[in-house]
Amino acid sequence: MKKGLFVVIEGPEGSGKTTQAELLCRYLAQKGYETLCVREPGGTEVGQRLREILKDKSLSLEAETELLLFAASRAQLIKSIIRPALQAGKAVVSDRFTLSTEVYQGFAQGISQEFIKQLNRFCLGDVEPDITFVLILNTNDALKKRLGVKSTDSSQEFLFPKTQPDRIERKSTDFHKKVYEGYKKLSKNRPKTVIIDGKGEIETVHRRIVNELEKILS
Ligand code: TMP
Repeated sequence: MKKGLFVVIEGPEGSGKTTQAELLCRYLAQKGYETLCVREPGGTEVGQRLREILKDKSLSLEAETELLLFAASRAQLIKSIIRPALQAGKAVVSDRFTLSTEVYQGFAQGISQEFIKQLNRFCLGDVEPDITFVLILNTNDALKKRLGVKSTDSSQEFLFPKTQPDRIERKSTDFHKKVYEGYKKLSKNRPKTVIIDGKGEIETVHRRIVNELEKILS
């Protein structure tokens, strides 16, 4: 199925991807696309409830449970929202998608990448992103930006002056370093995937993304 345009923005916590996803939505709308902006987990009523469970710091979730909940949210979002929107010729921008699962559940938590790929294929059906932008920032910069923490060694307790961290943000510095490494490793030489330097002004990073997007639109 290839109608509409499907763009994914990925990156570790604090990489600025949510801001960039919003800017990209606005950009595409100005270009005349009917645009839909979604996020994962979430984007549907079911997905939103799953997001609450996944982020709830009072819950302790096994890695396998977590994987299946992310997949359930994705299946619901694709089938009920993304696929119909693409079929209607809309531009869909998703804040996170399948690469997040490969990085967080696969690379950082050790679940079989083969199984994750199979599960993602099951959720995707005939839907495929046209392009995925991966925002990469230095891990410490990203952690500081998102969490307001000084986090250079794993023994250090996080301090959270800015926001209350959710269940995943609370994980150790080592975990977040692994996520960062995972993004770098799994994005390299990946088809339809472009690594974007996330450092700099919001507008500068936006221009980097738009320049790359224009290459596939022209
Ligand atoms: P965010 O929307 O604020 O980025 O939060 C989503 C969190 O869920 C973030 O910590 C990354 C995590 N996540 C996974 O671990 N696996 C996934 O497949 C997805 C979509 C997100």
